[in-house]
Amino acid sequence: MGIDRPGKFDFIALKGDPIQASNFYGQDILSVSQFTRESLAYIFSVAEEMREMVQGMGATDLLRGYVLACLFYEPSTRTSSSFIAAMERLGGGVIPITQGVQYSSVSKGESLPDTIRTLEQYADAIVLRHPQVGAAKVAADYAHVPIINAGDGTGEHPTQALLDLFTIREELGKIDGLRVAMVGDLKYGRTVHSLTRLLSMYDVEIFLVSPEILRLPLDQANDLRDKGIRVRETYHVADVISTVDVLYVTRVQKERFADLSQYEEVRDFYEITPDLMKQAKERMIIMHPLPRVGEIHYAVDDDPRAAYFRQMRNGMYIRMALLAEVLGKARQ
Ligand code: NCD
Repeated sequence: MGIDRPGKFDFIALKGDPIQASNFYGQDILSVSQFTRESLAYIFSVAEEMREMVQGMGATDLLRGYVLACLFYEPSTRTSSSFIAAMERLGGGVIPITQGVQYSSVSKGESLPDTIRTLEQYADAIVLRHPQVGAAKVAADYAHVPIINAGDGTGEHPTQALLDLFTIREELGKIDGLRVAMVGDLKYGRTVHSLTRLLSMYDVEIFLVSPEILRLPLDQANDLRDKGIRVRETYHVADVISTVDVLYVTRVQKERFADLSQYEEVRDFYEITPDLMKQAKERMIIMHPLPRVGEIHYAVDDDPRAAYFRQMRNGMYIRMALLAEVLGKARQ
């Protein structure tokens, strides 16, 4: 696998282009709406190659000499560590601003555009997590290097959705024809927003399971229906557990509530227990973007259908594939 070292001017010319099946080079990754079934299939095949490579050799020097900046304005464990691990396993280096922007010039009042324009002096791409919807797009408008959205408030979390979809495909062998239940905080959960959008490119049935105040925003539910997706809404996991192929459970996003008493009302709305899992199909999976705060009992972890640990590992392979494709050309 050779690599074509990009110059920043190449990136300027490429930014904003729709992602073609195998042309991620120089692209920002801001939203799942940039993807097609073809480009998803391509990135999944690269992720599979990355897994084989890691299992066989641990690391490669594909991105030697490249530097990735990870700029996180919100807490993170999996997303930040898996991007760092991905870059290191590809032989590249990382500027990790992941332990709190309070230790960076952000705490001196530096604006997002200025912080981005600083980091692009040192790095070939920037991974950004930020509390505001649209922040990654703003960063991309200023940056001359690719911006990868690692979560913009309640907006999107495209790389998580890619690893989620990859996990479904790896675990169940297909996506078309599946019944997927999204459970929990469908209002504020950005992983839900990105994954439901991605799923709507396939022939799936989606069950939306949430308390009333955490329903999927109406425009997003309507978008799904407009795309011909069969969507059903309910408050109870018990209504869907016996028919679904994927149970995608999420945390109630405490940090997004203006009124914490409302959070208290819904925080323990769902609990997936071994008893409940008795009603689920033998061949199905339970997923969670994590962290969990009580929605899935620890006793469920030993169930072979609990896919959330495998899901996390897939995150590294997907992020390796994205970095290799955005920064260079994995297959030349
Ligand atoms: C999610 C996030 O940050 O949106 N975590 C993650 O990236 N795996 C989900 C969450 O925080 O609940």
